Amino acid sequence: MKDYLHIDEVAKRFGDTEVLKGISLTIGKGDFVALLGPSGCGKSTLLKIISGLETETAGRIRLAGEWLAGVPAFRRDIGVVFQSYALFPHLSVAENVRFGLDMRHMGRAEAEARVQEALDLVKLDNLGDRMPHQLSGGQQQRVAIARALAIRPRLLLLDEPLSNLDAILRKSVRVDLRELHDRAGTTTVMVTHDQEEAMSMADRVAVMHDGAIEQWGSPEDIYERPANAFIGTFVGSPPASLITARRHLSGGWRIGDTAWTPETTLADRLDGIRNLEVTLGVRAERIDLVAPDAPGAFVAELTSSEYLGGGRLLHFAIHGQRIAVAHAGSVPNPGEVVGLRPRSDDVMLFDVNTGLRIDDR
Ligand SMILES: Nc1ncnc2c1ncn2[C@@H]1O[C@H](COP(=O)(O)OP(=O)(O)O)[C@@H](O)[C@H]1O
Ligand SMILES: [Mg+2]
Repeated sequence: MKDYLHIDEVAKRFGDTEVLKGISLTIGKGDFVALLGPSGCGKSTLLKIISGLETETAGRIRLAGEWLAGVPAFRRDIGVVFQSYALFPHLSVAENVRFGLDMRHMGRAEAEARVQEALDLVKLDNLGDRMPHQLSGGQQQRVAIARALAIRPRLLLLDEPLSNLDAILRKSVRVDLRELHDRAGTTTVMVTHDQEEAMSMADRVAVMHDGAIEQWGSPEDIYERPANAFIGTFVGSPPASLITARRHLSGGWRIGDTAWTPETTLADRLDGIRNLEVTLGVRAERIDLVAPDAPGAFVAELTSSEYLGGGRLLHFAIHGQRIAVAHAGSVPNPGEVVGLRPRSDDVMLFDVNTGLRIDDR
């Protein structure tokens, strides 16, 4: 079912503040979707509205063919795991997982089978008798997910599910959580401010900014064809560098007051747009270190370098603008002037004023 969850122009105000500005999104059954955006952009508010814990000011939501307006949270059959995923400390793991089933007055035998099924899914089947404080952070988080799954939710909502875990655990739980989604066959909407989490786990990502969705697409779409400069600099590690270039009267381009003659392919793309100024978005792994006088290069000065294992990230300055370059060869000296040549097909072009991407590559 392609329109399993359908969010139609949902808006939310708190007093005078418009926190969600008409969000529309259609999600297929079985999809794993991430809502990605900086803190405060409205992600949790949208999740709460879907779950029924918060009420929309305008718009409507349909889940599995049913409009949700007026349906109370506990009748929506939506499993929610919040950031804090607080377990009940005085209840065992199994009792925690059974909590939602008891609330629904499910019979004992069926409830026990469901608890077992949910604990199996999160691979904690032998820890049902433990108390929460006897578990690691990662295990507690899986109990919270089992608790949400036990009700066999029509939809699983995860709000920053990994943010309480340490950095190393977070990476392995990312894989676990995605595999769990596939095993359980749920439809999942995960909220995160961490682009790496969203890009690595989700089938599709909605990039949110200031209460609106700025792009909706596969992780690859968003990385390769960001809709605007904000998204280009929000996804990727490191994020894309932005450089402003100005068309020169005599032909050719300038970065600051230094002349730059792009390679033919890029020059053609730049000529295809009329703008006098353009913001170039350059990914660190798609620009090469070359001689200062190499064709297509602009000159820049090395300011610092980071060792990353397997390579380095070099930071250059070019007339007050900064650019990061991934580089595996020998490192220039600080202050040394080198040539940088962006790969023509991979440069992203953005409007200097609106930030919108300007050519369809
Ligand atoms: N109950 C509330 N009352 C007033 N403002 C709120 C309330 N909940 C959230 N907000 C505001 O709405 C905005 C979005 O919040 P939230 O949805 O939590 O963002 P995110 O999850 O993306 O960090 C923030 O500016 C926040 O302060
Ligand atoms: Mg939040």
